[in-house]
Amino acid sequence: MKKKLLISLICAAFLSLAAVPMLSAADAPGDDYVIPKVEGLKLKPKGDQPGKLQKQVLFPHSKHASVECAHCHHTMEADGGAIKHCTEAGCHDSLEFRDKANAKDITLVEVAYHKQCIDCHKDLKKEQKPTGPTACGKCHVK
Ligand code: HEC
Ligand code: HEC
Ligand code: HEC
Repeated sequence: MKKKLLISLICAAFLSLAAVPMLSAADAPGDDYVIPKVEGLKLKPKGDQPGKLQKQVLFPHSKHASVECAHCHHTMEADGGAIKHCTEAGCHDSLEFRDKANAKDITLVEVAYHKQCIDCHKDLKKEQKPTGPTACGKCHVK
């Protein structure tokens, strides 16, 4: 009985693999890729001054070759391999700025990116492994 179950599980796994066209590093953008600006993002005022947009973020895919595409593009498996923009409607699409009340709201563009990018870099730093930047000015460069 157990063996039969195992075999059918393995078959199911292969079938689902076959259904998702596998993307490889060659399908990722080059290392001069800049994460697109989000149109209409609200900016947190500084005192009585209007807020300023951060510099854009350069994202080198090749430096992340050790990370599965689907770790970051976490909807691609359900979408048959298609890559969505993070800020598509129904995803991380809140244009509000981050404040005390919504500091953990994952629909906020800033929260979603910072959580994914900075948390991983911090965790790897703790483990003393090669890692990426955690300082604002090292990511917001463009
Ligand atoms: C560490 C996180 C991360 C990993 C790993 C990653 N990506 Fe990305 N990728 C991103 C981010 C962030 C964007 C920008 C998304 C956006 O515009 O909303 C992006 C954008 C893209 C785009 C461009 C989409 C567009 O229309 O501009 C493609 C294509 C892509 N990635 C493919 C891949 C492939 C293929 C892999 C695996 C080999 C991969 N990515 C691995 C984070 C990652
Ligand atoms: C799951 C872990 C993980 C995630 C998620 C991740 N990174 Fe990284 N990042 C790394 C590692 C590991 C390196 C170091 C690679 C190396 O030096 O070999 C790195 C390096 C970098 C670098 C430095 C590249 C260089 O030229 O030295 C930048 C910039 C960077 N990451 C930006 C981002 C951004 C922006 C995001 C979110 C969209 C992100 N990373 C998400 C693991 C991650
Ligand atoms: C690992 C890379 C990384 C680090 C470190 C980082 N950010 Fe970001 N940040 C991003 C990404 C990616 C986005 C989303 C794309 C965008 O809006 O440009 C973003 C978005 C933002 C936004 C909302 C959009 C905007 O332009 O105003 C703010 C504000 C922001 N970051 C501030 C900061 C501050 C302050 C720090 C330091 C405490 C910081 N970031 C550190 C990657 C990073």
